[in-house]
Amino acid sequence: MPQPLKIVYHVEPDADALTQRAARYFVEAAEAAVKARGRARIALSGGSAPKPVYEALADRSQPWRERMPWDKLEIFFVDERCVPPDHKASNYRMAREAMLDRVPLQPAQIHRMEGELEPEAGASRYESELRNSFRLEGAESPRFDVIQLGLGTNGHTASLFPHSAALHEFGRLAVANLTDAEQPWRLTLTAPVINQGRDVFFLVSKGEKAEVLRDVFLGPRDPERLPSQLIRPAGGILTLLLDKAAAALLPAADASGRGELI
Ligand code: 6PG
Repeated sequence: MPQPLKIVYHVEPDADALTQRAARYFVEAAEAAVKARGRARIALSGGSAPKPVYEALADRSQPWRERMPWDKLEIFFVDERCVPPDHKASNYRMAREAMLDRVPLQPAQIHRMEGELEPEAGASRYESELRNSFRLEGAESPRFDVIQLGLGTNGHTASLFPHSAALHEFGRLAVANLTDAEQPWRLTLTAPVINQGRDVFFLVSKGEKAEVLRDVFLGPRDPERLPSQLIRPAGGILTLLLDKAAAALLPAADASGRGELI
């Protein structure tokens, strides 16, 4: 039986409000990690939803850039498409252009997945990168401070696609995964690694996600079809940051926009 999970969701009226909410969430989660452990190890996703948030974090005219403890951050990636880092589909490229190149981060603080390598080699390299950065021994798993996830209309998260081999990987930290997406080979953290994250949150916008959000979080358990159901953080809490359109089929939030599912 899976451990009980409390899902806390926050619903914002529109895309701009969601971007602001998510930027604040990143900053506050990083501040909390730095206060508790002296640094914040953050894993970023690709996709369209986080891009405006990365841009907001880097924007000098918004409060987030000043507040973010950049010198205490270590940036990792949740997943990557198997393409070179300058390819338009590269998650690293998106994050670099939206944020990483525009903020005071040193190259050594950024740990990208090497999508240009042969997929298995890229996955092994990232696994070694994680082992070294987190100083892991034996079967230890990294504990990221913050992990940001997206949700695909087919129920995928990270590059854990429906009916793909990576769903059955419990021993490794990062794997190569063959998917039916446009860039079929992907590198991805595995679900057990994501579940060790201290603060794991989904960022989901747009009405096209309303049905799958409902199915993943309220529907019957079927992680083969809906891999996002594999995400059950060990700390027992999962956060969803949503816009109104995406949240349309969840139980109504309270006046402050907060809802809870158990
Ligand atoms: C990727 C992602 C992926 C993404 C979802 C949601 O590389 O594509 O990391 O898991 O988060 O597909 O993407 P959107 O934000 O574009 O809806």
